[in-house]
Amino acid sequence: MTEQSPALDNLLTESRTFPPSDEFAGQANAKADLYAEADADREAFWAKQAERLTWDTKWTTVLDWTNAPFAKWFVGGKLNVAYNCVDRHVESGHGEQVAIHWVGEPGDTRDITYAELKTEVSKAANALASLGVAAGDVVAIQLQMVPEAIFAMLACARIGALHNVVFGGFSPTALRARVDDAAAKVVITSDGQFRRGKAAPMKANVDEALEGAETVEKVIVVKRTGDKLEGDVPWTDDRDLWWHELVDEQSEEHTPEAFDSEHPLFILYTSGTTGKPKGILHTSGGYLTQTAYTHHNVFDHKAGEDVYWCTADIGWITGHSYIVYGPLANRVTQVVYEGTPNTPHEGRHWEIIQKYKVSLYYTAPTLIRTFMKWGAEIPEKYDLSSLRVLGSVGEPINPEAWIWYRENIGAGKTPIVDTWWQTETGAIMISPLPGVTSTKPGSAQKALPGISAKVVDDQGTEVGPGGGGYLVLDKPWPSMLRGVWGDEERFRDTYWSRFKDQGFYFAGDGAKYDNDGDVWLLGRVDDVMNVSGHRISTTEVESALVSHPTVAEAAVVGATDPTTGQGIVAFVILRGNAVDGGEEAIQALRNHVAKEIGPIAKPRQIMVVPELPKTRSGKIMRRLLRDVAENRQVGDVTTLADSSVMDLISSGLKSGK
Ligand code: WT7
Repeated sequence: MTEQSPALDNLLTESRTFPPSDEFAGQANAKADLYAEADADREAFWAKQAERLTWDTKWTTVLDWTNAPFAKWFVGGKLNVAYNCVDRHVESGHGEQVAIHWVGEPGDTRDITYAELKTEVSKAANALASLGVAAGDVVAIQLQMVPEAIFAMLACARIGALHNVVFGGFSPTALRARVDDAAAKVVITSDGQFRRGKAAPMKANVDEALEGAETVEKVIVVKRTGDKLEGDVPWTDDRDLWWHELVDEQSEEHTPEAFDSEHPLFILYTSGTTGKPKGILHTSGGYLTQTAYTHHNVFDHKAGEDVYWCTADIGWITGHSYIVYGPLANRVTQVVYEGTPNTPHEGRHWEIIQKYKVSLYYTAPTLIRTFMKWGAEIPEKYDLSSLRVLGSVGEPINPEAWIWYRENIGAGKTPIVDTWWQTETGAIMISPLPGVTSTKPGSAQKALPGISAKVVDDQGTEVGPGGGGYLVLDKPWPSMLRGVWGDEERFRDTYWSRFKDQGFYFAGDGAKYDNDGDVWLLGRVDDVMNVSGHRISTTEVESALVSHPTVAEAAVVGATDPTTGQGIVAFVILRGNAVDGGEEAIQALRNHVAKEIGPIAKPRQIMVVPELPKTRSGKIMRRLLRDVAENRQVGDVTTLADSSVMDLISSGLKSGK
């Protein structure tokens, strides 16, 4: 059963509710009858949502689930995703509307209208086509939050190529694994990126990653840091091209081709329970339908009126679904910010909200807790009165952070939408609807209209009010993943085997119903950690550690952390001939993990131990290590092969070894 931490248990004692004001409810996009409408005929409901999009050919069948778990939505329909996100807004007379208020970290800005976006995306599409990129090819993108990242994604969509965006903080090794697995033909990156006021190299890392990479024919390089970057940008003449040189000479005209509703749109890698990340595959019509539908209703977005800001990075699914596809399909005006929230000062976000009159703001609990730590007097100095909906995503939000968010950022009145979903679900699944739901701090509450989720026990039987268990999705949804790239077995094993008889999708999260039947998410039940809303697998970090010559064995756990949700704590057994495990050796190991995976995976703490607690079948008992990492009394040790191991570990740690 779910191993709950005490902090999560506390969530369930929260009982405050915040009903929507009449004023908000009166103007809200979502009305309460959406639930009944969807329940009455789910397929008709989704067909109606798909009408938000412009289709070249209308579908003949809403859902084909005959080959479950591989769904087909809007079968027979054809559309171009980029046309839906860009051109049609220009054609309907909104070419002059700002699509993107881009804010660079050093303070430079750029406002991009829909007409300009169309030009940029068309040129980029022509550029990719000129390099021989065609429908079905894969383009890897490792870029920071620059407009070109969005142009590149939409250019891929426009020509039917799949993008494979790799978060900028991933190491060369991690990038290479994602380039090879997807057989990327082109890589798009930048010379360097600004991070906390400094220019750091990007292209040099990409070059390191691509050494000997067999599938990559061309590398396109966006010039961002220019002469601010120390040293030369490494260059391979017959492979590398500057974005501005390649793209600027292209025609501004590009006719979008309509692709099948099930044409692949992108692959995005995410951590699973094994060391190897999974390439999650998403397709076109259903994905765009659900991202647009949820963005419209969950954020109460009004095109041409609201200014929206999702603070995620396009390297994650939130950036794909709620910066690029859903919002742009809905003709958003949005802020895209390049930098960190405390550069050059801790009020940067509030300054941006004030300047652009941001009305819808979507961020992560880890950042909210960081803002709390920095102090309420910082946001207080800014005019945040434009805000009318606040969103949260990535991990359970603790009631304290929820209340702080509402009080200090939302003037004590904005609805807060705590949105549960995953890379695999493609779009928001469980969330309050602003204007409809009486919100509860800490609970994501209810599956959205058209979505069905349940909390079930080990046998797959739904638990009653107050009961806890596993979160499952018991009915297919339009933006669901269509597989794991190149690995059908893993797709079936990971998501569909746990409750095979019932045909439920197993999300990997523990959850509980309260007495009103609202859902409370309780964190992962598998070996996946959630650090600052980023998913990292314990096995991935363990593999990185044991790849270091001094390490014999490693076990990694996610320990509760007041700011990041979980922090990575590693227990390592050093090799017999290795040095003592002093400060320097530990530092070397932390850096090694950063090099193998990326700085986000650096363990917060590494403890050198003589043994690891294992069951008789050799499985590491992470539960016991989590007790140590969280300074708790060690729990039941009776299933250990050698029950004295925990004493050995604890006494070794106490004596400071
Ligand atoms: C995992 C998915 C969805 C985009 C960001 C993360 C956790 C996400 C919530 C929430 C509680 C949440 C779950 C989920 N999670 N949102 N509102 N409340 N937990 O995407 O990297 O695919 O991670 O994040 O554990 O399984 P991801």
